[in-house]
Amino acid sequence: MRATTVIEVRPARAPLSGAARVPGDKSISHRMALVAAVANGPSAISGFSRAGDCETTLSVLRALGVPLERASGDIVIEGVGWDRLLSPEQDLDCGRSGTTMRLACGLLAGSALDLTLTGDPQLLARPMERVAEPLRLMGARVETSDGRPPVRLQGGSLSGIEYELPVASAQVKSAVLLAGLRADGITTIVEAVPSRDHTERLLSWLGVPVEIAESPGRRVSVRRAKPRAFEANVPGDISSAAPLLAAAAAVPGSSVTIEGVGLNPSRSAFLEVLARMGAEVEIEPSAEAGPEPFGAVTVRHGDLRAVEIGESDVPGLIDELPLVGVLGALAEGSTVVRGAAELRVKESDRIAGLVEGLRELGADADELPDGFTVTGPAVLSGGAVDSVGDHRLAMAFAVAALAATGPLSIEGLDSVADSFPSFVPTLDSLR
Ligand code: S3P
Repeated sequence: MRATTVIEVRPARAPLSGAARVPGDKSISHRMALVAAVANGPSAISGFSRAGDCETTLSVLRALGVPLERASGDIVIEGVGWDRLLSPEQDLDCGRSGTTMRLACGLLAGSALDLTLTGDPQLLARPMERVAEPLRLMGARVETSDGRPPVRLQGGSLSGIEYELPVASAQVKSAVLLAGLRADGITTIVEAVPSRDHTERLLSWLGVPVEIAESPGRRVSVRRAKPRAFEANVPGDISSAAPLLAAAAAVPGSSVTIEGVGLNPSRSAFLEVLARMGAEVEIEPSAEAGPEPFGAVTVRHGDLRAVEIGESDVPGLIDELPLVGVLGALAEGSTVVRGAAELRVKESDRIAGLVEGLRELGADADELPDGFTVTGPAVLSGGAVDSVGDHRLAMAFAVAALAATGPLSIEGLDSVADSFPSFVPTLDSLR
């Protein structure tokens, strides 16, 4: 377990203003790296995320014998295909990155490798049967430890399956689709509520036959294929832009622009929520290049009102829900989030951690089994909160601190390095 650092965030004494860029999208970076590793030849990726979680994916690939070179955000990965992946000398260390572990399980299910994937204590507490089960149905041998990591995986020959996702999870969907690239027949995922679609977009852009049918439910099918090597740029991470945009919505008089940020509709529901809550949101799309849309987003403060979020909204803003809680505390009325039980199995139990932190700050917040309620507007005090080593909670509490009456000490704010290492200086540049 890492040692945690307490960092104090002072209230904003003036409106936030200016423009900033955020690191490359974490979800897209993971996917591009993993797919490049099994492609034909070298792929060049610019804007690759420097998030700790994406570094973990690169170190996993190195351990599998994939040659890669990195100069800042530019990275070149020499695709070796599945057959030239090497058995790692030690267990594959996935750090704190659930995405690395789950997607790597899918990618490696169709290899000839026999290995164990493990990670930090935070990751060892997270559910892995959700990927183990469909991969077993496809023919891989996968053992979890009481449903959690370490995961023992013996890859082999796979057969396509039709699999209805029991939880709305892009990680599970992606693991199965990546395994489907090595399976005989057709592999189909059926999702009741669409989750982020980066994997299917990337594969389709790389010439893999991907079929998508929107009803009943969303069905995504792939068949055996080898992705081509590619050159691509990773747009900025909308989940890293979100706390900066939420800060603009929270602090009166503010106007903040984030440039070059991903605008994938399956990820951008938070922008709609900001507008529904009363902030002014302006979106300027850039000309399309590569598999993902991107552009500039400006958010200006407005008088905030409560919002209700239900199950069908959740996958589109799953990582932004702690920010909805903080804005809810500042908004007039009762903000209610339901259908979000998945928050309990993220890097921490985000429902418990959020509600506890909001209460410490003086907000009227309660847990629901599958979400939370917050009634505002509250006068948020400073003081101390614990982010329990969870980067999304840490950033949400930093936004709360800007709107508080006194300084707030945030335990574990250094966890922002998992997704947004330069979060504090970027926020400071807008003050
Ligand atoms: C991710 C999907 C989401 C999200 C996580 C990244 C991905 O998790 O919370 O931060 O890259 O596919 P689930 O798919 O488990 O909901």
